Amino acid sequence: MEKCFVIIKFLLICGSFASVIGKLPPTIPVCSRYHPNLSECVMDAIRVLQPRLASGDLGPGLKVPSLEPLVIPQIQIGEDKTLKVDLSNVLIHGASKFKIEKLRANYNELKFDALLTIPKMKIFGKYKLNFVFFNQIVKGEGEIFTEFENSKIKAAIKAHRFIHKGQEFARLEPIEIKFQRGKVREVKLSNLFPNNPVLSEVIHAVLKSNPDFALNNVYPQVNNYLSKFGTEVANKIFEGISIDELFPK
Ligand SMILES: *[C@@H]1O[C@H](CO)[C@@H](O)[C@H](O)[C@H]1NC(C)=O
Repeated sequence: MEKCFVIIKFLLICGSFASVIGKLPPTIPVCSRYHPNLSECVMDAIRVLQPRLASGDLGPGLKVPSLEPLVIPQIQIGEDKTLKVDLSNVLIHGASKFKIEKLRANYNELKFDALLTIPKMKIFGKYKLNFVFFNQIVKGEGEIFTEFENSKIKAAIKAHRFIHKGQEFARLEPIEIKFQRGKVREVKLSNLFPNNPVLSEVIHAVLKSNPDFALNNVYPQVNNYLSKFGTEVANKIFEGISIDELFPK
């Protein structure tokens, strides 16, 4: 009798445990697959989740890297001898304040396309640069600060269905991200040629009027980084959660 009781208790504990594992926390809003406007519902869900994306705390048992600030450990610009810039400890503030301009959700194909605007981004980091100027090797090292207004991010998420133990799940492909900077409000490099303020001023003027000269190289790295970041966050939400739970009937 007592043995039986223990077994029942065990089953009860296991049962409630199993129902907790693989369950989405209530902090994550879900949308019915039959919602008359699924795109709008997903958009609203992301807006609800937005402050939690900033902190990285998506709810009980669901921690992801925080978006505020976004940390990119290393960016390299230029590999040849004429210009080489290393950025490190890059901190991006403002990415979590994105606005969703457009979102298209397709339940049957498990495809989600979004266009986001980031009204203001402040970027801090350390730079080390090295270039040849009139046959002289010029070196500099200090802090960089830039500010962008109304940058755009295009994100495409695609997932594949698979069956596990009779339930349908989604496996994500790496998220495709395209970052496009907005207006450059500010570019400042501290300690740039302290012995040559004229040269420092020239470089600042060049960077401000034609920042893509230096930045074109940066975007693929930023896209890669954002893709890894976004995929990690989305995987945390999708992994182990059945499609029936993510998009209930
Ligand atoms: C769905 O919602 C979006 C965003 O509010 C809107 O632009 C779109 O026209 C809606 N689509 C339908 C079919 O109602």
